[in-house]
Amino acid sequence: MDSYGDRSLIRDRRIQYETAGLELPDLDRDPMQQWHAWHAEAFDASVAEPNSMVLSTVDLRGMPDARVVLIRDADQFGFTFFTNYESSKSHQLSARPVAAATFAWLDLHRQVRVRGSVERVSDSESDEYFASRPQASQIGAWASPQSEVLRDRHELMRSFVEHEKRFAGHPVPRPAHWGGWRLVPEEWEFWQGRPSRLHDRFRYRPVDGRWQIDRLSP
Ligand SMILES: Cc1cc2nc3c(=O)[nH]c(=O)nc-3n(C[C@H](O)[C@H](O)[C@H](O)COP(=O)(O)O)c2cc1C
Repeated sequence: MDSYGDRSLIRDRRIQYETAGLELPDLDRDPMQQWHAWHAEAFDASVAEPNSMVLSTVDLRGMPDARVVLIRDADQFGFTFFTNYESSKSHQLSARPVAAATFAWLDLHRQVRVRGSVERVSDSESDEYFASRPQASQIGAWASPQSEVLRDRHELMRSFVEHEKRFAGHPVPRPAHWGGWRLVPEEWEFWQGRPSRLHDRFRYRPVDGRWQIDRLSP
């Protein structure tokens, strides 16, 4: 024991992944269909925040950065999430429009990794999603200069109250600094935990206009 507490909780913790496993014929040829099948199972299993992904970006120095965001759509065009266009992540994505995403559905011993290019969604798409948000979240988008330094929490709350008054009795318009990005997958990996660390991994890559699927060593 040291000042960090009981580190054997980290070093010695091992879970046996007793899952049925994954074979090539089990996989949909379309990775987005496969993702939806696993996402539905994550939902049915009540895993925490099945819509969350770790979004990894790189800054101008080439330094990686990562944070959790919630996806709001997943279709043939990619994964859509919403954020502040003046945030650190958006500055990084504007300068280097590539990203990686990691879905960790740990209760099911599953991980999906995606890499690809990133593009802004249309203003109308952002407007439509913004209009569907609870009013307090809409005001929050106005009130929070995401990723900037605050003097204290009071500064944020004062900004929230000011914007609440400004929009009282009116629909809240989408701020120009808030909207969506879409990660367009170029490479995928589906990982299923198996006993003795002999996990199943399948990578999808585009080859001659279709997705080639390869089993990777765990
Ligand atoms: C469960 C969860 C969901 C989140 N969803 C979002 C989201 O959808 N959009 C967003 O901008 N930040 C979201 N965040 C906050 C981000 O992780 C991050 O703190 C914020 O976007 C600022 O990141 P940046 O400074 O790298 O731009 C979420 C955090 C958690 C833990």
